[in-house]
This record gives sequence, structure tokens and C-alpha cells, in this order.
Amino acid sequence: MTSSSSVPLILLQLCSLQLMVVAMPTCQLLEDVVQTTHNLLRDLGGPFPVHCMQYNVNISFPDSAFPAATASHPQCRQALWVVYETLRETQELFQELDLPVGEGGVTWDSKKLADFLNLQYGLVEEGSCLATTKAPGVLSSYFSNVTAFVQQQDSAACGWMALRRDVLWVLKTALHKYHSCFAQRARH
Ligand SMILES: *[C@@H]1O[C@H](CO)[C@@H](O)[C@H](O)[C@H]1NC(C)=O
Ligand SMILES: *[C@@H]1O[C@H](CO)[C@@H](O)[C@H](O)[C@H]1NC(C)=O
Repeated sequence: MTSSSSVPLILLQLCSLQLMVVAMPTCQLLEDVVQTTHNLLRDLGGPFPVHCMQYNVNISFPDSAFPAATASHPQCRQALWVVYETLRETQELFQELDLPVGEGGVTWDSKKLADFLNLQYGLVEEGSCLATTKAPGVLSSYFSNVTAFVQQQDSAACGWMALRRDVLWVLKTALHKYHSCFAQRARH
């Protein structure tokens, strides 16, 4: 009884293992692209302004979204998902809302910003296989808070700067702590 019922299970595991191997290469993000994206975001503006710190209670990235330990496959998947989901939600905000300009607005280097947005677009495309129906809520409270602040005129600039600070943190953390999870460009 037990032995016969365990056969389909093994088959199922073999099948899903095969599926995983087939699906894996498309579910990777290139490390050098992520690094360049990080550098552009870092270099497009100045440090986080002191007067924006009052919003830290309302906009604080959930560090716990990243898995605790490193390197094994499921943890890589979760770590890459955090990168993907953060960039996807950020891209959506950039598509829906304009940056506040003028006095008290955001003064970012527009060339670097355009390059960042292009690379971000590519990463969101590349990473779309990382989209999951599991755990959709981990980042949703964070992004609904950010959205609320970037939509209000008096807090918009600080909202965008807090978002930039946090996306930078996500990319930096991923590149340092989950270095091995990223794909390397093949050398010829
Ligand atoms: C920001 O957080 C503070 C403290 O939790 C709260 O009193 C305030 O209402 C929040 N602001 C918004 C717009 O949610
Ligand atoms: C969202 O804002 C509320 C209060 O405004 C705060 O208590 C909560 O921690 C914020 N969540 C995130 C993830 O920033």
C-alpha cells in the first residue's frame, strides 16, 4: 500500500525537478546589470535629506522580506523575488506619477534617471518569471505607504527620496548578501 502510493510521488518529484531545471535559466537576473542599475540610482542624486527623516515612521522597507540565510535555491528565489517585486512596484510608480519638479522638488540627473529606468524596465521583463502568487503581501504595505506619500504634494519629494533610498538598499543588500544568486554573463 505505502510502497505503491509512493511511486507517483517520486515521479512527481522527478517531473518537478526537471521543470525546475528547464525553468531556471529564465528566472535569473544578470549581476552586472543589477550592479549598473544600482550605481545609476546611487549616482543620480544627493544623499537622503535630513528634513525627510520625519517620514521614516511611515516609509520603512520591511527588511524581513529578504530570507534570513544564504545561498540555497529557495532562498535565492526569495531574494531575487524581493529585487524583482521592488523594481516592478517602483516602475509602476514612475509610470503613473510625475516627479515633483521646481522648488522643494526632486533634482535628479535626468540622463542617469532615464538610463536607470531603462535598465529597470529590462530587469522587470527578465524577472517576470519570478512573479509569484505566494507572499504577495510582504511588500504591499510598504508600497501603499509610499504611494500615499508621493501622491501628496507636500510629501511627494520626500516620498520619492525615501523610495530611492530603499530601492538602493534592496539592490545593495541583494548584491552583497545574495551575490551567488545572480547570473554571471557568460565569458567568451
Ligand atoms: C505617519 O505615521 C505617524 C505615526 O505612526 C501617524 O501618526 C501618521 O498619521 C502617519 N501619516 C500618514 C499620512 O499615514
Ligand atoms: C505604513 O504606515 C504606517 C503608519 O502610517 C506604519 O505604522 C507602518 O509601519 C508603515 N508600513 C511600512 C511597511 O512602512
